Amino acid sequence: MLRNFMKHLSTRNLRCSLKNNAVTSNFANRRSIAPLSTTELALKDEKVKVTFVLYDGKRLETEAKVGDTLLDVVVNNDLNIEGYGACEGTLTCSTCHVVLKPDDYNRLPEEACDEERDMLDLAYGLTDTSRLGCQITLTKDMDGLEIKVPETINDARS
Ligand code: FES
Repeated sequence: MLRNFMKHLSTRNLRCSLKNNAVTSNFANRRSIAPLSTTELALKDEKVKVTFVLYDGKRLETEAKVGDTLLDVVVNNDLNIEGYGACEGTLTCSTCHVVLKPDDYNRLPEEACDEERDMLDLAYGLTDTSRLGCQITLTKDMDGLEIKVPETINDARS
């Protein structure tokens, strides 16, 4: 049954499923789906600069590890962004909504998957360059990334 399930998922959906479903994630680890793994990136321990710009103009500049998600960056650096990442990256809240500059948005290695798009639809202040921070994995190319955090967040679970 699991084999049939995996077979019918597109690569994009599989990536979202791997992030949010321990059963398929464990299965994937055993099957060594290397192209989807971010483990290799995380082990490199390279750093990039990331700046979160809050609605009031306050800038939270930080260093982040390549392979971490933007949610990891907020949590690991204890950034004071109220309510950010309420569902801890399980794609059920949309509180990690961020707005990227068009060039940065177009350079992202992965497009939003269907589950992310569904969650984005519930976010306040949605723009053409909106993404969910828990779904953006940092690469070396993203050094200097600047992200806007909208004023109002919506926790889709409430
Ligand atoms: S942290 Fe909840 S959707 Fe990203």
